[in-house]
Amino acid sequence: MNDQAARLRQLIEKVKPNQTTSDAENAQPEKQKDARIIAISSGKGGVGKTNIAVNLAIALQDMGNRVALIDADLGLSNVDVVLGMVPRYNMFHLINGEKTIEDILLIGPKGLKVISGGSGTMDLINLSDESVKKLIELLMKLNKSSDYIIVDTGAGINRSVMSFIEATDELIVVVTPDPTSITDAYAVIKHAHKDDKALKIIVNQVESAKESSEVFEKLSAAADKFLGIKLVHLGFILNDKRVRQSVRAQVPFYVSYPKTSASQSIGMIAHELAHIEQFKQKKTFGQFIKRLLGGN
Ligand SMILES: Nc1ncnc2c1ncn2[C@@H]1O[C@H](COP(=O)(O)OP(=O)(O)OP(=O)(O)O)[C@@H](O)[C@H]1O
Ligand SMILES: [Mg+2]
Repeated sequence: MNDQAARLRQLIEKVKPNQTTSDAENAQPEKQKDARIIAISSGKGGVGKTNIAVNLAIALQDMGNRVALIDADLGLSNVDVVLGMVPRYNMFHLINGEKTIEDILLIGPKGLKVISGGSGTMDLINLSDESVKKLIELLMKLNKSSDYIIVDTGAGINRSVMSFIEATDELIVVVTPDPTSITDAYAVIKHAHKDDKALKIIVNQVESAKESSEVFEKLSAAADKFLGIKLVHLGFILNDKRVRQSVRAQVPFYVSYPKTSASQSIGMIAHELAHIEQFKQKKTFGQFIKRLLGGN
């Protein structure tokens, strides 16, 4: 075991004993299972990740699940923009010791829990022990109080994005019919396919189901041939002007236009995700944290 892994194990052990003190969540029955942690990513930027993360999180919450949404996009952190929320504090304030978990936790539509990443926090390698402890506390608390943790990771394969992608069991890659989006999605899949992760694809901004299938076939044929992995076609979302209107109005489309085609698609994707056959959580929550923070 390397030094970093040993250090993390110690920190996780330190956090564990007092994680159950004093919070209101304790009134709830202890969950048996760890939360499903699902990262949403893409190769190319601007393909619809944030809109999908936000609306999918709301849809899952609407189905009776407890969902937490983490905005881990370093650049233009915009989960809050799509939600029309103005977070005063974010993870940065938490790990710096300026604010508590309660201070940074926002409550969104249908009771969705929202954590804003804040720029600079996601370079997780060089954090102090104190900061790592705060982050572990936060993630443990979210794990305990959620059925799903959805992470909007931002685009591309930089280190901060990859640390989330590599840590999670489940990855959704968003792709559009744009050829550069397809090749960039392939690059993410190539980096992420290690250790048998369940890789799911959403094809966004298509004109028809047929177009979605064509895009998926291109990606999955390449993944099958060159990487030897099978991708799952989780669903597609049509090009829908209500999405753009909702972004401008800063109200998620699943809330403002529940009947629009994009909302119906998100509903189907949420359903598919919840009922996906044979989903097996391969990593424990502790393993997730260790991976996230570079422990192994
Ligand atoms: N299904 C859709 N129909 C129409 N427009 C869409 C659809 N999905 C996304 N868009 C448009 O694409 C824009 C970008 O979406 P979004 O911010 O969710 O992408 P992103 O992948 O998170 O971008 P970034 O990489 O910058 O974080 C939205 O503001 C919206 O105008
Ligand atoms: Mg985004």
